[in-house]
Amino acid sequence: MEALAQERKAEQNRILKERLLELKKERNAIILAHYYQRDEIQEVADFRGDSFLLAQKAAQTDADVIVFCGVHFMGESAKILAPNKTVIIPDERAGCPMADMVNVRGLQDLKKKHPNAKVVTYINSSAEIKAETDICCTSSNAVKVVQSLDTDEVIWVPDKNLGHYVSQFTDKKMIIWEGYCNTHDMLTVKDVVEMRAQYPNAQFIVHPECRPEVVEMGDFVGSTTGLIKYVRESDCKEFIVGTEDGTGYQMRVENPDKSFRFATKYLVCPNMKVNNLKKLVKCLETMSPEIYVPPQVADKARLSLERMLQVQ
Ligand code: 13P
Ligand code: SF4
Repeated sequence: MEALAQERKAEQNRILKERLLELKKERNAIILAHYYQRDEIQEVADFRGDSFLLAQKAAQTDADVIVFCGVHFMGESAKILAPNKTVIIPDERAGCPMADMVNVRGLQDLKKKHPNAKVVTYINSSAEIKAETDICCTSSNAVKVVQSLDTDEVIWVPDKNLGHYVSQFTDKKMIIWEGYCNTHDMLTVKDVVEMRAQYPNAQFIVHPECRPEVVEMGDFVGSTTGLIKYVRESDCKEFIVGTEDGTGYQMRVENPDKSFRFATKYLVCPNMKVNNLKKLVKCLETMSPEIYVPPQVADKARLSLERMLQVQ
């Protein structure tokens, strides 16, 4: 019975993939997929990547349509960087709870309290927050971005865990917002201790969105791309992975001889997983939902993203 169901699913996916190819050509579209997407989406993407790489790809593409498979703020960033393109997403319910933890009024109040501080905003934020920001960052360039600033004081929004991690690499005073990623924050010291006991030869690699006490346990700490690169270059054959489980797709594709165990079964972002192949095909068929950012917000937000893209 299970084999039959699998066969049926494979046949459905084959038909969907054929239709996707036709639609992509018809619309002159490019598919960008974050590493946390379901395997069936990563398989058909033109580019898989972390937030930084995908923002770069959106800014550079000459396609007419960008299909952004990730969460809403990623589609917004693509639209801000490529205002003349049509940006669509498979499901508008794919939000990011961390991005929703900071509000414009609160940030404005903080700016008033610290008039000499520069605002550094994690790309996991809304367009309105980016419009109130001096410079954005992603987890792969956060340290560099903070170090590049000519100020002693930084207002950091919204991720307290990443903010804590970055603060270890700078003398600047960091005023850190209390947001966090519901998924990464779920991983505990106990989970890691148990996994290490079960897999004593494995290295523990971890994303800085996890809690500070968990990050401290890492044999390696890095952004999604940083972790993928580390695994590729390491001689170790076994890893306990402390980030969202979609990252396993790229790790397995690149390293068929290595094994990956996710540090808890909770390292799954339900928002990222709202998208699937069927919805991806449908959004190209109907050209919706489409991302819209009011031009006056986009123009301000663009500066903070472009400044980030210029930091080497
Ligand atoms: P990165 O792609 O920057 O590692 O982002 C992690 C994340 O939580 C995206 O939602
Ligand atoms: Fe947001 Fe965390 Fe999901 Fe990334 S993994 S989209 S930060 S909730």
